[in-house]
Amino acid sequence: MVQEELVANLDTSRGSWSSKIGFVVAAAGSAIGLGNIWRFPYVAGQNGGAIFVIIYIFFVVLIGLPVMISELAIGRNTTKNPVGAFKMLFPNSLWKVIGGLGVITGIGILSFYAVIAGYTVGYFIKIVLGDFARIESAAQAGEIFASFTANPFISIGLLFLFVLLTVLVVMGGVSAGIERWSKILMPILLLLLILLAIRSITLPGAEQGLIFYLKPDFSKFTLTTLTWALGQALFSLSLGMGTMITYGSYISKKDNLVTSAGYVCFFDTLIAILAGLVMFPALFAMGMDPAGGPKLVFVVLPSIFAKMPGGMIFGAGIFLLLAVAALTSTISLLEVPVAYFVDEHGWKRKKAVILMGSVTFLMGIPSALALGANHFLTNFIKENFGFLDFMNALFGNYSLSIGAFFIAIFAGYQWGTKAVANEVEQQGNIFFLRRLWIFSIRFICPLAIFVILAYIAWTGNYF
Ligand code: PHE
Repeated sequence: MVQEELVANLDTSRGSWSSKIGFVVAAAGSAIGLGNIWRFPYVAGQNGGAIFVIIYIFFVVLIGLPVMISELAIGRNTTKNPVGAFKMLFPNSLWKVIGGLGVITGIGILSFYAVIAGYTVGYFIKIVLGDFARIESAAQAGEIFASFTANPFISIGLLFLFVLLTVLVVMGGVSAGIERWSKILMPILLLLLILLAIRSITLPGAEQGLIFYLKPDFSKFTLTTLTWALGQALFSLSLGMGTMITYGSYISKKDNLVTSAGYVCFFDTLIAILAGLVMFPALFAMGMDPAGGPKLVFVVLPSIFAKMPGGMIFGAGIFLLLAVAALTSTISLLEVPVAYFVDEHGWKRKKAVILMGSVTFLMGIPSALALGANHFLTNFIKENFGFLDFMNALFGNYSLSIGAFFIAIFAGYQWGTKAVANEVEQQGNIFFLRRLWIFSIRFICPLAIFVILAYIAWTGNYF
């Protein structure tokens, strides 16, 4: 793995990953999280299974990777937050608005993401307390989840806890410690997922799940499959809101941006695909509906643990690791608005972190009540498409897609492919697949995203 040193701290008030921690680890920490294990399987389940997976992989390669290279190049070149970066490259232009959208998106995503992250902590505690020791059916696991999320105090309390954890890490500048940890913990997560996938695939009746997940059924293709595949690719890779601009601002000129981005995309996709291999065989073996939505992972995983020797130890391990994976992502989400207020408005880091943390917590409350605690919020847009789903689609799909569209235009036409190439080729680095990148960033990315968004606007079929 790429292990070059990071640029020494340029401006201590901004904070940075301490040196010697590989950028790939930090960026993979941002990318790998609930997006892979919670969001990917349920979105795939709602959008036709295998056909979604194939389109998703295409989007990771043809849109995700090129946009990631662009964001990293912009960040490393300017060593700034998204707003500052656009301002520096094109002062007095409207480009900074795209950076601003990223800052808002960071808070928007964090507000509902921390709710689900809080649930992973709650589930860790529940498993340790033996709440799942005697479950016999997936229906029972479903009931446990429903009564758990129906309690407003628990949901809001866990949201508060997770935002607090994120705030403490970002404020204390201990991100480096977290990254060092996650270097050890993430391979363990990978290993546990492999073991769980084996258990899941060997359950009686699992074949149907494998067929659903791996054998494309083209009749299930709809245009919303495209919207969600695009949104999911950007969400999972932390793209379209400047996270990778912010992280790129800490990479050394010695690093090859293309291979670094390639590693991040590869590991992120690997974990997501594996999560699907855990989820779908078990889901079909237990006769559940693959389109069950956000609760899927919380119902399916405990049902698998119940069928494994030592399953509860496994279960506790998985949910703990999931919480850590979520934390390395929430850190990166909070870092974008914090870096913005510190750089552009001269706020003290502490003030920026506390204020942004408070805003996030308050914004997260309706999402925390949207999985059963409050009837109106639970069915906010339509039956069972609540406020959390709304925020997830709004910020997790649309904001990121709009952001990625403009970042592609910026890299492809405004700042220009030569400038990006120049940045990638610093210190003799080779720009692998350069022509493919140029073609993709100038034509494929903007066109594909535009067509998808235009279609959505045309049909008015937003959710
Ligand atoms: N990529 C993260 C995940 O999959 C979520 C995220 C999105 C983080 C956007 C930062 C920016 O869990």
